Amino acid sequence: MERTPHRIAVVPGDGIGVETTREAVKVLDALEGHGALRATLTAFPWSAEETLRTGVAFPADAIDRLKRGFDAILAGAFGDPRIPDMSHAKEILLGMRVKLDLWANIRPVRCLDDRLSPLKDWGARDIDFIVLRENTEGAYVGMGGVFREGTPEEMAIEEDVTTRRGVERICRHAFETALRMEKPRRLARSPRVTLADKHNVQRFGGGLWHRTYIEVARGYPACEASHLFADTLAMEMVRNPASFDVIVTNNLLGDILTDLGAALSGGIGLAPSGNVQPGKVSLFEPVHGSAPDLAGKGVANPIGSILSAALMLRHLGEEAAALRVEEAVTACVRAGETTADLGGKLSTGAAGDAVVRRL
Ligand code: IPM
Ligand code: MN
Repeated sequence: MERTPHRIAVVPGDGIGVETTREAVKVLDALEGHGALRATLTAFPWSAEETLRTGVAFPADAIDRLKRGFDAILAGAFGDPRIPDMSHAKEILLGMRVKLDLWANIRPVRCLDDRLSPLKDWGARDIDFIVLRENTEGAYVGMGGVFREGTPEEMAIEEDVTTRRGVERICRHAFETALRMEKPRRLARSPRVTLADKHNVQRFGGGLWHRTYIEVARGYPACEASHLFADTLAMEMVRNPASFDVIVTNNLLGDILTDLGAALSGGIGLAPSGNVQPGKVSLFEPVHGSAPDLAGKGVANPIGSILSAALMLRHLGEEAAALRVEEAVTACVRAGETTADLGGKLSTGAAGDAVVRRL
């Protein structure tokens, strides 16, 4: 069967992003070798290195090229001690998130093996939910300023922006996602969506979230819609992770809760994410950062990047290929064919090879 190849932009970025992305590309190449995928991969050099060399972090025509020439983007990580304010990372990563309007940040929390669970009472079957993080608004809009900088009277304002449209679309997506999940069916109960906010303190933005959520929930009577304040939800994620299917929250709370989620799944090295606008060119990246102290040592775990590639395949409609990658990764994890952070003995490259062998 002749299929049109998916056009994938690859942006490895900085630090260990370069090493982990290389392994995800290896997996995509292997799928092609098996006839399970057709894709053309195009690498882009946007990174700290390139910013220091050219003075430009993210070229003015980049968004246009991505929109017109590609179906998906696979990114590594951004951050380098030579650019201490991370301005290039914000320009590249937050630039893609906002300018491509990738409003849904999808961060599955799945523990692949009991051995990896940090919780004594909960294992792989229990730790399995999805955090949907609003990805274009909130505290990330970069609006604000400082007044009397450098003086004892210095003052700063950091705006936190919430729009009805922004909240409504991510809430709707949360219910749609819950309806498609397998876990509630397996447990013979209604799919659950939980909103995390702080509307007890943030009355305006939080209030808009809460009201909109309740309104959207009315359209999904098959789902159970609940609410927890974000601090309580953090506690419940540790106390009773099995109680969640989909958690929906704002940009900053989502950033924090998904690092906790990554720890529950076995460590930040294996957490994947998608920055998505349904039906549009979307961005897939591991949750981990560039970890400059680990870069170049061959110790970084490539699973976060490989599972991000699987999320990308699913977004592109390649469900079978996505499952094949996820099953290969799970088999490697269960067999201990991993890097040292998960208790294995393999280098980054060898851990990628192990996944390829099990495809
Ligand atoms: C993430 C990261 C980013 C964020 C940073 C690098 C700007 O922590 O993707 O979770 O805060 O969103
Ligand atoms: Mn983060």
